Amino acid sequence: MTVNFNKVSYVYQKGTPFEHRALRDIVTEFEQGKYYAIIGQTGSGKSTLIQHFNGLLKPSQGTMSINDIKITPKTKDKYLMPLRKRVGVVFQFPEAQLFEDTVEREILFGPNNFNMPLSEVKERAFRLLLEFGFSRDVLQQSPFQMSGGQMRKIAITSILAMNPDIVILDEPTAGLDPKSQKQIMQMIKNLQMRHNKTIILVTHEMNDVARYSDEVKIMRDGQIVESCSPRKLFSNSNYVESLNLDVPNIVKLQRDIEAKHQIKFNKVSLTEDEFVEMYKEWAQNER
Ligand SMILES: Nc1ncnc2c1ncn2[C@@H]1O[C@H](COP(=O)(O)OP(=O)(O)O)[C@@H](O)[C@H]1O
Ligand SMILES: [Mg+2]
Repeated sequence: MTVNFNKVSYVYQKGTPFEHRALRDIVTEFEQGKYYAIIGQTGSGKSTLIQHFNGLLKPSQGTMSINDIKITPKTKDKYLMPLRKRVGVVFQFPEAQLFEDTVEREILFGPNNFNMPLSEVKERAFRLLLEFGFSRDVLQQSPFQMSGGQMRKIAITSILAMNPDIVILDEPTAGLDPKSQKQIMQMIKNLQMRHNKTIILVTHEMNDVARYSDEVKIMRDGQIVESCSPRKLFSNSNYVESLNLDVPNIVKLQRDIEAKHQIKFNKVSLTEDEFVEMYKEWAQNER
């Protein structure tokens, strides 16, 4: 599915004293199978933007299209229902929405409402849960006996079990222990690599942006002010800092080593492996 925003604006509480224009003339595109990171300060419009993908919000002005589905301010809500199956959104702190007393019921709740084949959904969920490290009796366990990290994984699985083409996650690892964070980020990357899902990750975590994303979209005041590769973004540390964003650890390390040896590598590395390769090559030539 290709998603297109054509001059999309969104205004909260229009016509009241609280009226707020949260998106301004957004023009941008998302291609199937790519991994996008959406970054920007709190209040810049990230959560508002992602709620347009599954029709939870409709543009106040402009048009968006998701494949052959066109959404305008006039589009009827019932026309947007099919989108809820194709686009999975994991909101911030999704574990707060858990309410069923077993994992199985929790996972089948949404698909049941959509008349999806439940055995398929259950099978898919079970495989994901095993990948997350749960034991084989997980489906009969209660989410409320679990740790925060486990509850988060259950909530994420319940979205992924519906096999959406586009997976959108709003800060999916915020507040979790490092091991759970890594498991979740790996799972999301696998969805892209093995199943060609489109991933849209809203995050403040620049290490993840560097390591996982293909394209970064930077939001400021309701606009997308930049769409570029993570390599291009992090090549310019001054620009990154001017946006009040962190520089990834691996980029900091590279800059420190460059300063120490008074050299400049010809590209900025986005992962430890990349840096080690570059460093080895340089060290060999130095000898
Ligand atoms: N329900 C709402 N009513 C009024 N203003 C809102 C509402 N939700 C968000 N906003 C405002 O819209 C802007 C964008 O919010 P949001 O999309 O949540 O940003 P982000 O996710 O980047 O932090 C903010 O200024 C926020 O205060
Ligand atoms: Mg937000």
